Amino acid sequence: MTASTPKSISIAQLIGKDQIDQVVDDFYNRARNHPSLAQPFSVVHNWVDHKAKIAQFWWVVLGGIPKASYKYDPVGKHFAAGFNASLLSDWKLLFKTVLQDHLNPELSDKWYSRVEMIGDNLLTQDQRLHHE
Ligand code: HEM
Repeated sequence: MTASTPKSISIAQLIGKDQIDQVVDDFYNRARNHPSLAQPFSVVHNWVDHKAKIAQFWWVVLGGIPKASYKYDPVGKHFAAGFNASLLSDWKLLFKTVLQDHLNPELSDKWYSRVEMIGDNLLTQDQRLHHE
């Protein structure tokens, strides 16, 4: 028997790369002017490259097939940027606001649940490095 299961559509496809680009663009434009996040993000000089890299990161995290390849070192870079629980909490609140401004509640919640997972993971890894 050849059961044909319908191909599942990824969250990335449901949102679309254009909207992912727009969320990322809006988020970093706000982060650069944010009272606590502006300072850590002052290390970024090429915003066009940074936004393209992060948009690709989210596209793949949300289940899209990679369209470009980048090397990521999130744990090391965040440690160097002074990542901590308080900054993460501000980052997440800002990200949630931007998601809600761009997407319907269903897609916004789906994307945000990935933010929670990655954020928790970054925090655990960061705390581990602080104790080494
Ligand atoms: C769930 C939360 C977060 C996610 C998913 C996330 C994701 C990422 C990713 C994928 C990169 C690229 C890393 C690379 O180029 O190898 C990055 C870079 C960066 N992130 Fe985050 N981030 C988060 C939270 C934060 C927070 C709270 C801060 C505040 C310190 C922060 C500051 C930075 C900075 C400054 C860079 C650029 C580092 C560099 O290019 O040297 N991020 N982030």
